[in-house]
Amino acid sequence: MILGNWKMHTLKADALTLAASMRTVAEATDTLIGICPPSLWVDQIVTEVADSRLMVGVQDCVADDFGAHTGCINAAMVANAGCAFALLGHSERRKRFGETSQTIAPAVGAILETGLFPVVCVGETEVDRDAGRADQVVAEQLAPLVGQGFDLDGVVIAYEPVWAIGTGRVATLAEIVAMHRWIREVLERPELVVLYGGSVSPETASSIFSSDQVSGALVGGASLDADKFAAIVAAWETR
Ligand code: 13P
Repeated sequence: MILGNWKMHTLKADALTLAASMRTVAEATDTLIGICPPSLWVDQIVTEVADSRLMVGVQDCVADDFGAHTGCINAAMVANAGCAFALLGHSERRKRFGETSQTIAPAVGAILETGLFPVVCVGETEVDRDAGRADQVVAEQLAPLVGQGFDLDGVVIAYEPVWAIGTGRVATLAEIVAMHRWIREVLERPELVVLYGGSVSPETASSIFSSDQVSGALVGGASLDADKFAAIVAAWETR
């Protein structure tokens, strides 16, 4: 599975053009391909790619039922818009909006209940890694997902070391492999889908994908360029 997170990029016309190119990429592969456009463009993009293999997701949502929650969208809305999945707990949401695994765990359940799949993002900061705390921090981020009454088999985890996001600095293959193993161990799910995210590009993808611990990628910057994204998908297919 290769997913693109567009973050806060694109005006509408560019978003529709990019989605059309992503649709072409998705049609040319058996690999599951998904994009997370800004939520304002999601509805129209879903409509335009409805008859294709391209999955559309949102970048975040909350667990709450309908109510007075200014600026929020909930799982029922995400499903109603025709999305296939939702990113939850991205480090940029954790940092800026104070989201934690405790606050996102109910949203994971809500997304699963609608029949969509959640992609829960975890990852340590550079300070945590340098202090030898990466495993502990990621385990703490995963812990609130356990014992919630939902089936963890339906959850996708994206391991995104914060220091590798948008920096061009990819974690080493050894770090990636060790953390993917650790995530499956902590959740006691050997078959869990675990994606890597953080400066995945046409240049870095082949090495990242060379381990069978890696189930795919969550791509940021390079998912804003269909040619780069297609090259990443090609690297996955020839791994
Ligand atoms: P970059 O690929 O730009 O480093 O972003 C990764 C990311 O945060 C995806 O969610």
